[in-house]
Amino acid sequence: MTPIEKLLLENKAWAAEVKADDPGYFERLSHLQTPQFLWIGCSDSRVPADKITGTQPGEIFVHRNIANLVIHTDVNVLSVLDYAVNHLKVNHVIVCGHYGCGGVKAAMTNHDFKYVLNMWLRNIKDVYRLYSDELDAIPDFDQRADRLVELNVKEQVMHLAKTSIIQRAWKNDQRPILHGWVYGLKDGLLNSVFEMDPKSKLDPLYTYDDL
Ligand code: CO
Repeated sequence: MTPIEKLLLENKAWAAEVKADDPGYFERLSHLQTPQFLWIGCSDSRVPADKITGTQPGEIFVHRNIANLVIHTDVNVLSVLDYAVNHLKVNHVIVCGHYGCGGVKAAMTNHDFKYVLNMWLRNIKDVYRLYSDELDAIPDFDQRADRLVELNVKEQVMHLAKTSIIQRAWKNDQRPILHGWVYGLKDGLLNSVFEMDPKSKLDPLYTYDDL
């Protein structure tokens, strides 16, 4: 059996097991999607949003990319944000990084990763530059990388707050709360490192005053 055939076989077994347990499960779920949470996480295969939060299908709306970035020209992440905030009306947006993130570590090197990856990692280098005084003072590479993971999550949460999507929802609906979390690959625990809510103060440069 090939690895791909195994995936399809495992899927059949899973679907049969769920159905045996709860015959109406798939029929019910197909009519309803009302998640309270938007998760913006790293694509890393070791950080599955639903598993580590004990949530079921239908409970979390998920977007993942390398190093959980929120880039203001990325139509993909902004479409997900727009849909989650304005249509699903989520109450919480979670940006979740993880210690030991390969994308963050790669951005700390001077290696040429070619074309698109260089472009993507450049965004993390820009976060490093903002906090270079603090980061340069940490001698150990892995510890420095883990601190950059935390600071990167904080920056991405602030990027969310700079969007008119979030500012409009804060003004009209007093939601969502923005959370910055970091997941520990070694202990499986989520660490809350930053939070913003509708009362948070924004840099005036990025505040829309005619929403
Ligand atoms: Co990662």
